[in-house]
Amino acid sequence: MAELTKLESKLAEVLGLSMAAQGATDKVRGMLDDDEAEHAETLERMKQEAAETEERCVGLADDLDGKKTAILESARETKGEATEMMETYLEGEDEALDGFEFLTMAEAGEVGHWSIVQAMSEKAGDTRFRELAEWALPIQRRHFDQALETSLEIAREEDPNEVES
Ligand SMILES: [Fe+2]
Repeated sequence: MAELTKLESKLAEVLGLSMAAQGATDKVRGMLDDDEAEHAETLERMKQEAAETEERCVGLADDLDGKKTAILESARETKGEATEMMETYLEGEDEALDGFEFLTMAEAGEVGHWSIVQAMSEKAGDTRFRELAEWALPIQRRHFDQALETSLEIAREEDPNEVES
């Protein structure tokens, strides 16, 4: 299998995270109560944007001669690790607040990883990576803001003095 540069393996990581993000939005959507259904739209948009991110990352991998298979393999590994982390974190939890807390962490992770892709692509002087990172970063920052804002919205609806069930 072709060896990956540091920048290429970072591409594999953000690709894997975008794959896992699609599963995470579905998972959290399934945790919404009827009176929280308004948040389904936010999750659906996040999912669609994660799917578009996946497509664009695969598109770039396609352009990297002979590297695509190795990038996809490494991305699937990242996806598996991120999904496992989600399952551990949310095991036994069924409240949407727990789901959005997880998404806040996951989206912060995506912002961090894309920032690294951007920094490395600038140093490498590679326009294809840099343009992809410049497209993805504002979207990931918005995902993080939305996950945090939705967490806070749900938290404010809770009775802080209620005994935890
Ligand atoms: Fe995201």
